[in-house]
Amino acid sequence: MYNHLFVEISESKLELSLEEILKIRERHLSKSLSIGHGKPLHISRGEMQYLYSKSGEKYLDLVNNVCHVGHCNPHVVNAGQKQMAKLNTNTRYIYDGLTEYIERLSNTLPKGLDFGFLVNSGSEANELAIRLARAYTNNHDIVVMEGAYHGHTGMLIDLSPYKFRGPGGKGTAEDWVHVAPVPDIYRDDSRDYQNEFDSIIKNANPIAGFIVETMLSCAGQIPFPEGYLAKSFESIRNLGGLCIADEVQVGFGRIGSHMWAFEEQGVVPDIVVMGKPIGNGHPMAAVFTTKEIAASFKEMEFFSTFGGNPVSCAIGMAVLDVIENDNLIEKSKIMGDLFIDGLTELTKRHKIIGDVRGKGLFLGIELVKDHSSLEPATKEAELLVEGMLSKNILLSIDGPRKNVIKIKPPMVITEDDVKRTILSLDKTFSEIENYHFN
Ligand SMILES: Cc1ncc(COP(=O)(O)O)c(C=O)c1O
Repeated sequence: MYNHLFVEISESKLELSLEEILKIRERHLSKSLSIGHGKPLHISRGEMQYLYSKSGEKYLDLVNNVCHVGHCNPHVVNAGQKQMAKLNTNTRYIYDGLTEYIERLSNTLPKGLDFGFLVNSGSEANELAIRLARAYTNNHDIVVMEGAYHGHTGMLIDLSPYKFRGPGGKGTAEDWVHVAPVPDIYRDDSRDYQNEFDSIIKNANPIAGFIVETMLSCAGQIPFPEGYLAKSFESIRNLGGLCIADEVQVGFGRIGSHMWAFEEQGVVPDIVVMGKPIGNGHPMAAVFTTKEIAASFKEMEFFSTFGGNPVSCAIGMAVLDVIENDNLIEKSKIMGDLFIDGLTELTKRHKIIGDVRGKGLFLGIELVKDHSSLEPATKEAELLVEGMLSKNILLSIDGPRKNVIKIKPPMVITEDDVKRTILSLDKTFSEIENYHFN
């Protein structure tokens, strides 16, 4: 009876027109919350790799790497609904689900990374990872990659060149933050990036840790050159620091060959941070580390009100079930390879494509105006995303020059979706090419 009433109330709210909703946003939401895709999309429903607008349009979502196993995946929804109707409490109680979940997650990691902390967001998890590194090493300084984004809290803005160098940022790094250049071999393969990394950390104060996405996302969808992370981790450890893998975007099998992107680089971090896909849209995140590092917190109690609650654990378990039962890691590789083949074919016809890169379902297409100067085709990237939107395919742009098209869809996309995307890209590239190349 009560449930029925609630559904009625929430549905009647959805009857507001787009204009009315935008007016209420104006009145009550900060302008700092931007709207994606260049125009407001009024989305009313999600189903696996598709989003449906209020006016009935069906969009193929190639952007959302949070709804990893599909928007509203029924197995995940069912697990969350059932647990919500049964019990939700916090980690100060003993209940079924938490220990099973922590153990199952830990089993996906290399031996030794056995101790987990469950929290609510990637930012909270990264904050905790930095606190752990500082507590364990008694050092303070942190090394980050240029262009990185690690979260929205005060400390993480300081650790995110993407933010502190971006609009509204203070422009320069704090003295305890050391920024290593991105080994972007597409733009410059003549630099000794490893040596540059070593020089930067040698001149720093004692280092607590190096936090790094094991495949770079905001910095431009850039996979590391072979051996780069292994050597960087060695250098950091030689100076007594810990290595923190931020797997918030690239984890849970997205790269197609491994569950964790650091595995593909042949490294074992001291601390692993998980987020976004972990709860398929439910606010969850996790930090895993060794027994010794976890013990650095032995005096101060750690407590996150919602972290590890029974509903989150049930949802997290269901996500792992789907990844395993539906072979999503293998599928990500197959779909990713199909994308790479199709995109590589497009490079022959569309000279605006400078580079196609990435692994599995974590791909980037860098657009340039000229193959020698590599002048970024920023406006064209915008036009491409708009053109694809008009064909009901959602894409997004990133990278420091705002010229890299990102592909990071729910992992349930099909061969038909990939083929349709390649055909639509081909058409849209032709549409925008006249704009600059003729
Ligand atoms: C690599 C990376 N780390 C951390 C975060 C922060 O996660 P959250 O937004 O859940 O706080 C993000 C969010 O975009 C991210 O991309």
